[in-house]
Amino acid sequence: MQKILIQLDTDPNPSVFDRVVAIDAGTEQLFSYGNISPANVTELVHGAMFTRGPADLKNTAIFIGGSSADAGEALLQKVTKTFFGPLQVSVMMDSNGCNTTAAAAVALARRHHSLQGIRATVLGGTGPVGLRAAELLACEGAVVQLVSRSQDRAESACDGIRERLPDALLHAVGASDGFEDVCADSEVVIAAGAAGVCFLPAGSLTQLPKLRVAIDLNAVPPAGLSDIGVTDKAVTRGETLCFGALGVGGLKMKVHRRAVGQLFAANDAVLDTMAIYQLAREIADAAS
Ligand SMILES: NC(=O)c1ccc[n+]([C@@H]2O[C@H](COP(=O)([O-])OP(=O)(O)OC[C@H]3O[C@@H](n4cnc5c(N)ncnc54)[C@H](OP(=O)(O)O)[C@@H]3O)[C@@H](O)[C@H]2O)c1
Repeated sequence: MQKILIQLDTDPNPSVFDRVVAIDAGTEQLFSYGNISPANVTELVHGAMFTRGPADLKNTAIFIGGSSADAGEALLQKVTKTFFGPLQVSVMMDSNGCNTTAAAAVALARRHHSLQGIRATVLGGTGPVGLRAAELLACEGAVVQLVSRSQDRAESACDGIRERLPDALLHAVGASDGFEDVCADSEVVIAAGAAGVCFLPAGSLTQLPKLRVAIDLNAVPPAGLSDIGVTDKAVTRGETLCFGALGVGGLKMKVHRRAVGQLFAANDAVLDTMAIYQLAREIADAAS
């Protein structure tokens, strides 16, 4: 029986990136739909649920993507609520790469430095990637500073994480400059600001004596952390192990492909932030 992936994209044009990865991950038939929202998704999900018998449903799966992570989360909720009894298919959400990117970054940090009890900072922490990176770091027991230009947005992002992770140790920080001071006590720093946003100028990393792992997810010049090259992959600078956006991208792509492949292992998987992070950890740990 052929493996069918149903790509539900919240944008008008279903992502070509997600389509290519789907094929590379072993999808045999790819059905792509754009402009999908909770208001028009039910019939598409019914089409997935009611066509194959329960024992064969693992060969049908749903991928949710698009440029808006919030829209993707809303769609994921609606899709999973549409299932009932054994009539369900596995589903993955990775709008704009938010889950695979955050998962890969935190899995790399964890592979190289214990996260339990350490201080970590996420710059640009209110975006889809930063928010998830902060949540995953907190889940691993780190004390996390979530940084935004707006104290209110940082607080509200931390509140959102606490709703899912009540024991998370989070500090909301509003700052538009002085990021060296903000990061001074951190052992792990992840820069997850918008493309082309620079937080730390050249020479900063050596001014941060506690820093052990620094990850810059921004691939668009100027760099988010100027001392890090975009292709850096576990490059040591002083006491700090550095990863640039493309250095993280290799693991991110592996995680994305493995996650799509895993959709076809059973008919009841929900690959959300945490599930995708578990995969990233397994892949990162296996490489060490
Ligand atoms: N390597 C990969 O495979 C990969 C995959 C996906 C994304 N990415 C990269 O990961 C990064 C994060 O992605 P994202 O989608 O979460 O980013 P985003 O939503 O575009 O931006 C993240 C945060 O950056 C802050 N920001 C925006 N403009 C700023 C400015 N001028 N100065 C300081 N902060 C600013 C905003 O926070 P506040 O407004 O609250 O300050 C925003 O919430 C991006 O650089 C993206 O290109 C990499």
